[in-house]
Amino acid sequence: MKVLITAGPTREPIDPVRFLTNRSSGRMGYALAEAFARREEQVLLISGPTQLDIPDHVDFIPVETAQEMYDAVAHYLPKMDAAIFCAAVADYTPVTVAAQKIKKSADTLTLELKKTPDILGSARQVIGFQGYLVGFAAETEDLEQNARTKLERKGCDMIIANNVSRAGIGFDSAENEVLIVEAAENTALPRDTKEHLAQHLADIISERWLRKHGTMS
Ligand code: PMT
Repeated sequence: MKVLITAGPTREPIDPVRFLTNRSSGRMGYALAEAFARREEQVLLISGPTQLDIPDHVDFIPVETAQEMYDAVAHYLPKMDAAIFCAAVADYTPVTVAAQKIKKSADTLTLELKKTPDILGSARQVIGFQGYLVGFAAETEDLEQNARTKLERKGCDMIIANNVSRAGIGFDSAENEVLIVEAAENTALPRDTKEHLAQHLADIISERWLRKHGTMS
């Protein structure tokens, strides 16, 4: 199976020295890449900036902005059997990037932001991806309902939902706890290290992919 995984945060530049980003460390996505590589699947990891080492036997494309991540995904996705969108992609980016460092002058500063491309939302509708599609959902309330809405709206086979308001799991932590939401069922995976959860998720996604597509390519 050829699997594409997005991971980490994006960085949206404001001026030559400043950017908008978020707390994603990349650990969940890198753990997934490693888990699939251990199963001897072909893995392409497309990642925003992180402090992590690239897992062995994984093809790697570094990106910075949401647009760069979109472009890399759009280029490689059609060749993939499965895709897992774990990255915490910025939803908004500055309308203009100042060519020079913005000076401290006025008491307030207003940044105008515009929407970034919805990479997961484009997978089916714009890029025409036919393979097994897995999104993540970072939620602070109504975990199951919000994940199910994303599952249907974005044409996913599976959403992996995590409650990012809880201490010790989700963004920038060693552990996570997830609810797997599929059309016919929900499966809760209890709190564990991201590495253990990733192995479990890789087993489940591989089994589901085989069930849907029959044979490996
Ligand atoms: O990196 P870690 O520190 O290990 O933390 C892991 C994590 C918390 C980042 C991860 O488990 C997680 O929840 N990733 C998804 C984060 C997110 O942005 O969720 P969302 O609910 O805002 O987005 C829903 C889905 O759309 C996600 O699959 C996301 O990758 C995707 N998306 C979002 C915006 C956008 N412009 N394009 C996208 O593809």
